[in-house]
Amino acid sequence: MQTAIIGTGYVGLPTGAGLAELGHKVICVDSNEEKIRALNAGKVTLFEEGLEELLHKHRLSGNLAFTTDLPAAVSQADIVIIAVGTPPHPVTHEADLQYLKAAAAETALHLSGYTVVAVKSTVPVGTCAATEKMMHELNPQAEFDVVSLPEFLREGFAVHDFFHPDRIVAGTSSERAQAVISELYKPLLAGSPDTKILFVNRQSGETIKYASNSFLALKIHFINEIADLCEKTGADVRDVALGMGLDHRIGNFFLTPGPGFGGSCFPKDTMALAYTARKNGIDLSLVEATMNGNRRRMERMAGKILSLIEDDAEKPVIAVLGTAFKNGTDDCRFSPAMTIIENILQSRKSLRLRIFDPKAADNASALLRPYADRITFCKDPYDACTSADILAVLTEWKEFSALDLEAAAGLMRRKYIADLRNMLDRKKAEQSGFTYICIGDTSGNRD
Ligand code: NAD
Ligand code: UGA
Repeated sequence: MQTAIIGTGYVGLPTGAGLAELGHKVICVDSNEEKIRALNAGKVTLFEEGLEELLHKHRLSGNLAFTTDLPAAVSQADIVIIAVGTPPHPVTHEADLQYLKAAAAETALHLSGYTVVAVKSTVPVGTCAATEKMMHELNPQAEFDVVSLPEFLREGFAVHDFFHPDRIVAGTSSERAQAVISELYKPLLAGSPDTKILFVNRQSGETIKYASNSFLALKIHFINEIADLCEKTGADVRDVALGMGLDHRIGNFFLTPGPGFGGSCFPKDTMALAYTARKNGIDLSLVEATMNGNRRRMERMAGKILSLIEDDAEKPVIAVLGTAFKNGTDDCRFSPAMTIIENILQSRKSLRLRIFDPKAADNASALLRPYADRITFCKDPYDACTSADILAVLTEWKEFSALDLEAAAGLMRRKYIADLRNMLDRKKAEQSGFTYICIGDTSGNRD
């Protein structure tokens, strides 16, 4: 099937590579010339496990190509998948649809033959219908259906999630469009008998996406609040989450407490859903509480680290492990780590940071440019610990749990750990001379 994907970011690129692996002919389009130049030169523009191999394989197989020429890509396509960003509006926090509108408008002018235009970008309810109307006005002769095709992949697991989705949701009541979507995913469904395409109307497709993300964010916020309570009562939130999650009705996913949820999706999607609800006169009080509580939490987390600075420390140095918003990605957009880092830097001019992240250092360094003279990016965790007073773990990179705490202690000036991802072993940390604080457990009595 001839497929055009508009937007080669964290969604568009793995989706393009995945569809090429399924045997489709895919052209990935981006308006960013630099990105397309890099992709055409065989350079991967973002980090995702397994992506580089797939891109390489299908550039050679001829199933995958990259271009800035949207008209040419769209005019050959049976299906055009739009995967451009929908960032939060800086003032209202509603989803900013300018990139979607621009991509859809240009697409409308170059469609040839019946085409499905599938909106994979996360968009507020009613957007697909409004986009279809706008496209018809621009090109009344064009034959097409606009379908809501929300994406549920996680960054860091994008390739895995493409091939093993829990579900595929397609919002359309057009039988012709349903047949195209079924054809697109046929090779994937043939290999995963448990996966289903759920056909719903467009409004439901759009709402499923926001409701799912908001529910997951709410679940994380809930366990974070329970973690706060555990810190006051002597319970250990890890045991509490374990005990809760064994109930199948609750489930053990998304019950890991931390410094707050982040990333390019949960913060923006909760804000956008809350905006849509307010516009419709509906009170989504749980979503409002989740996003406001999460924002306050990150500020408190910075305070938690700063509370470890000793009164006589003149030029405190904090070793920071992790800047990405989660493990497995180089993405620092709306990263709790970045918010905490900024809060810390603003709290005291004399404070310096030594930062290590295995994949996201370049992105972090670009975002932290205003503070460049107070930050050293380090080659590994031990380099970061050298002469530091406090070690703060901000991202849940698996390798941080293997840190040799005795070696780290030997390198540090003072010995404090703020483990905001519960990655380290309290006992080993204390045996190595550290004062150790983490999330949702003050007792240290886990045996
Ligand atoms: P991104 O910012 O990584 O990529 C978007 C790409 O679109 C950019 O490369 C940009 O240059 C390109 N673009 C913008 N306007 C264009 C135009 N008119 N023509 C051609 N290219 C254009 O964004 P992303 O993280 O991939 O997210 C895309 C959408 O998918 C968002 O709505 C997001 O909410 C949603 N989503 C993201 C994820 C995720 O894990 N990142 C998961 C599910 C859904
Ligand atoms: C999330 C959803 O999981 C995807 O299904 C969805 O497609 C995507 O948003 C999207 O719409 O973009 P993602 O943002 O990649 O995926 O990352 P998650 O794994 O969901 O983590 C989000 C944040 O929550 C991270 O900061 C992570 O550290 C935090 N988190 C996650 C926790 O603090 N605790 C948990 O138990 C899980």
